[in-house]
Amino acid sequence: MKTIIEPFRIKVVEPIRLTTADQREQFIREAHFNLFAIRAESVLIDLLTDSGTSAMSSEQWAGIMRGDESYAGAESFFRLQDRVREVTGFEHFLPTHQGRASERILFDVVCGPGKVVPNNNHFDTTRANVEHTGAEAVDLVIDEGHDLQSQHPFKGNLDIDKLSDLIERVGVERIPFCMVTITNNSGGGQPVSMGNLREVRDVCHRHGLPFFLDACRFAENAYFIKKREPGMGDRSIQSIVHETFELADGATISAKKDGLVNIGGLLLLRDEKLLEQARNSLILTEGFPTYGGLAGRDLEALAQGLDEVLDEQYLAYRIRSTEYLGERLVSAGIPILEPPGGHAIYLDAKRFCPHIPQEQFPGQALAVGLYRVAGIRAVEIGSVMFGGEGRTVDAELVRLAIPRRVYTQSHIDYVIEAIVELHQRRDGLRGLRIVEEPPMLRHFTAKFEEI
Ligand code: F0G
Repeated sequence: MKTIIEPFRIKVVEPIRLTTADQREQFIREAHFNLFAIRAESVLIDLLTDSGTSAMSSEQWAGIMRGDESYAGAESFFRLQDRVREVTGFEHFLPTHQGRASERILFDVVCGPGKVVPNNNHFDTTRANVEHTGAEAVDLVIDEGHDLQSQHPFKGNLDIDKLSDLIERVGVERIPFCMVTITNNSGGGQPVSMGNLREVRDVCHRHGLPFFLDACRFAENAYFIKKREPGMGDRSIQSIVHETFELADGATISAKKDGLVNIGGLLLLRDEKLLEQARNSLILTEGFPTYGGLAGRDLEALAQGLDEVLDEQYLAYRIRSTEYLGERLVSAGIPILEPPGGHAIYLDAKRFCPHIPQEQFPGQALAVGLYRVAGIRAVEIGSVMFGGEGRTVDAELVRLAIPRRVYTQSHIDYVIEAIVELHQRRDGLRGLRIVEEPPMLRHFTAKFEEI
């Protein structure tokens, strides 16, 4: 059998609304050409993010009813603790309301002015949280990670030579820890190999540096390792995940991705002193350590999600459905970042609409065009997101992130048709200029005008 089907059937449905081209024209203008400002009910297929947008299973909903809402020592916490220990091998963890809360707590404790944090690629909130403490965030992905067409199987790998050079240049005392993001979201959802993780860990430990993971998509990364890394094909996903975490001294996790929940995060730590400092910071702003910023029912849903995400049949479907979208687009001549990542396909806007100069935000123009033509919402990852204040940006991408277990193949076929149609009419896409922007993370609230 060639077709990999959705490994679930549908018990509850949520209607999505078809809009007319005239309505969408009105909505996009009212939103000042910023898709974050569009009401979700005016979106037909929402590919803005894979974060917090998963469909939960019947077992997770059953867990929601089981949730123990005690302030301290809730049963739900202990169920989550058992699962976290089983999946990651970490003895200690703190629940948080989402990934960036784990980041804020960790970075507040160990970063600060003068410090330098290496990563393959920092995600935007990760970078912002590092920089917020006065530290510098440095990206050290391998060169292939910058080449949109390179077919390297692990384009998310961190460049070991660049890491050694950085340590030599700035000195170990200025580096609080080294981080690796799996999969590498800002670099196209590309995986990191076990071999690379081991090498990074070795370099770190040779210099006495802690090694941390930004492990939002740890299960998708493990699946790529199983499929692509020599010698890993016979290993279970659970054992690959276990080894991944075993290499690390800690991890920040947004459970809104591979936790298969709509809200939640984790901070994993081995060092007892660090754990105590983090726990105190958690109590200050998130909540008591047995619930973090979550309700008891959220802890239950997460405990169950961490189990379901390791199911190889689920992961095969997940990675294949993203690949399917990528394959179809490539065969229709649509320029994308290759090979397809785990959670998203990234359109290459520079090649999609070469008539729009970089300073007129080709990615944003393309995302606006996609909404206009078909009611699909995607997100620009280019000069709008990372530019401004004299920063230069290499790639102008539009990310089509696939929510987990939400859309079927016919939804994705519709997306493919829409993109192909837009590509045929690409000459009609128009550049944009920013007319209003906030001082940081401008993509969320900037207003645009068409040129
Ligand atoms: N790290 C990575 C690699 C991420 O992709 C995200 C979130 C975070 C950290 C922060 O987690 O949102 O729970 O606070 N990524 C989402 C996205 C928002 O759309 O890619 P959070």
